[in-house]
Formats: sequence, C-alpha cells, structure tokens
Amino acid sequence: MWKIIRPYLRNIYRRLIGLKFFFYDYIRYIKFSGWKENFDDIEVRNYKSVILYHGLEKSLSYKVRNPNSGWNNAYQILELLKIADKDKNLGFHEKVSKIVLEKFLSLSENINSEKTQYFIEELKKLNNFNENYKASCGYIEYSKNDYENGILENPEDFFLSRYSLREFKNEIVRDIDIKRALNLSMKTPSVCNRQPWAIYHTSKKEIKDIVLTYQQGNKPFGENIPNLIIVAVDLKAFFSADEHYQHWIDGGLLSMSIMYAFHSVGIATCPLNWSAKPKNDLGLRKSLNIKDNHTIIMVLAVGYPNENNKVCVSPRKTLDDIFYNLEKK
Ligand SMILES: Cc1cc2nc3c(=O)[nH]c(=O)nc-3n(C[C@H](O)[C@H](O)[C@H](O)COP(=O)(O)O)c2cc1C
Repeated sequence: MWKIIRPYLRNIYRRLIGLKFFFYDYIRYIKFSGWKENFDDIEVRNYKSVILYHGLEKSLSYKVRNPNSGWNNAYQILELLKIADKDKNLGFHEKVSKIVLEKFLSLSENINSEKTQYFIEELKKLNNFNENYKASCGYIEYSKNDYENGILENPEDFFLSRYSLREFKNEIVRDIDIKRALNLSMKTPSVCNRQPWAIYHTSKKEIKDIVLTYQQGNKPFGENIPNLIIVAVDLKAFFSADEHYQHWIDGGLLSMSIMYAFHSVGIATCPLNWSAKPKNDLGLRKSLNIKDNHTIIMVLAVGYPNENNKVCVSPRKTLDDIFYNLEKK
C-alpha cells in the first residue's frame, strides 16, 4: 500500500515546495524589481535610461534608417536627464544617454528641425552634467577585419581545454589577475545593454566559509578554495512581468564569460550552483553585505591550477543528440 501512495505523496510534496520556492522568487521580484519605475532611485533611472538610449543607438546604427524614428525615446531621455540633474547624482547610463541624445540630434535629418532646437534649449538648462565627460557610444564603423581580430588560430584548443577544477594551487589569486579577467567579462552582452550585474569577491577565509556553508555542492573541496566570486544580478533593471526570467539569463551569460575570461589567462574556475532553498538564500543575506535587490545567480571557485591536476572528464553529448532543424509544424 505504502509503495503505491508514496509517489503520489511525493508529487504533492514537490508541487507544494515548488510553489513556495516560486513564491519566494515572485515576492523578490515584486519587492525589488524596477516595475514601479521610481525614477528618484538612481539605479532604476539608469536602467531606464539605457533601455531608451540603446533604442537610439540601434536607430543610429542602421544603414538605412527611418528619418522619423527615435523621437519618442529622445523625449523620454530628456525627462530622465532633468530628474537626474535635479538629483545631482548621476549614474553611468544617464551620462552616456546625454551623449547619445546629442549624437541623435546632430544627425543631418534632425539637426535643423524645430524639435532639435527645443532639445538644445532644454539641455542647456542642465547644470550638473560635465560637458567634458566622454564615452564611446552611439555607433562605430566596424569592418570585417575588425571582426576577424577575434578569430582564434585553434578555437578547439581554447574551448576544449577548460575544465572545472576543484582542487587548486594553495595560493590566493592576485587581485590584478582577478580584475583582469572580470574586466574582460564586462563585454558580455545583456538585454538592452543594461549590464544589470553585481560581482562580489572574497579571498577571506571567514567569508568564504560563510558562503560555502549555504552552498550545496562544495564538499569536500570547499575549504581549500582560494578565491570565491558571487555573480548576482540587479532586479531593479527589470520593469515588466515578461522580464521575470531575464535576470537569470543575463547572469548566466556573465557567469560563462567570467569562466572563459579566467580560462583565457590561465586561471581555473569551478561553477558552484546557487539553486538554493529560500532558507539558504536568506541565511547568506543575513550574514553578508549582498544587496536585497541583487539576486544570486551562482558562486564561482577561482584559483591557479597546480602543475598536475585530476579533473572529471564530464563527457559531452554529440551535437547530433541535441540538434534539430527548425521547421514549420
Ligand atoms: C550552474 C552550474 C552549477 C554547478 N554547480 C556545481 C556544484 O555545486 N558543485 C560542483 O562540484 N560542480 C558544479 N558545477 C560544475 C559541473 O559539474 C561541471 O561544469 C560539469 O560537470 C561540466 O564539467 P566541466 O566544467 O569540467 O566541463 C556546476 C556547473 C554549473 C554550470
């Protein structure tokens, strides 16, 4: 009898637990995402700015652009610039948004329009933007040759030589090496280029111990991990219900970039899942300075490899196992 009931009970239990965990994510999204569009919050305002100016950047980059497009975004950018100016507290994206807006206004099809005159007058009223601020933004000419700078002589050597390493050289990775790899990973694409990331790093034993107590999957190697990184994503960057999974996606992309960036400079990593129960997520947040609006995507162990290492082979399926030609039904 028990044998028959057990799978049913297990199914019910899993559904209820699943609901609880989904609810935890839902509550976090409601509490911390940018959906209220509170533009007094510099971070929310900045994420909104990048969504808008990225629309202009795209419009600027088309070979044949619709000469009437972009104005809607331009007006919204101007409104945010005014709020930022009053706030006297400027973030990266809003400083960039002003430059992109000016590039948009100076397009040959816009420069002499009445609308542009209005914008120029309004922009003159801003007091807190540094006129000398420079940022590479808008669009650039990018040739086939430029793209070819990225060609690896033997890409297989690069991609097939990365393995997750769980036992590292007994040496803390130097800050300069950590920062170099993390800087490379900043080129990771993200939705509308929002770059909603937060990266936490430590090499302090007492902090690593706290993280690893809550992470399920670092036994028995955890205690000797030299450096730990937590990859997180800022929920404030997301404004609507359709985006409720976007932070996992942007965070996943950044995580992989970080791993490849470390690999490209000879430093090994092991991804450590943060498929954590709400209890563990809350426990970690109580102990460490992780901002409430930062959702933890995963943890990364980082270290220099030893001369000789043993790694799991972790064989891969063949491409044929997972490849489908996309066809009409
Ligand atoms: C999101 C994610 C979470 C992971 N979590 C763990 C973990 O908690 N503990 C662990 O030992 N390995 C973890 N791994 C490592 C995987 O086991 C490993 O990437 C996989 O077996 C492929 O091996 P490779 O990385 O050496 O190619 C994780 C990997 C990913 C991508």
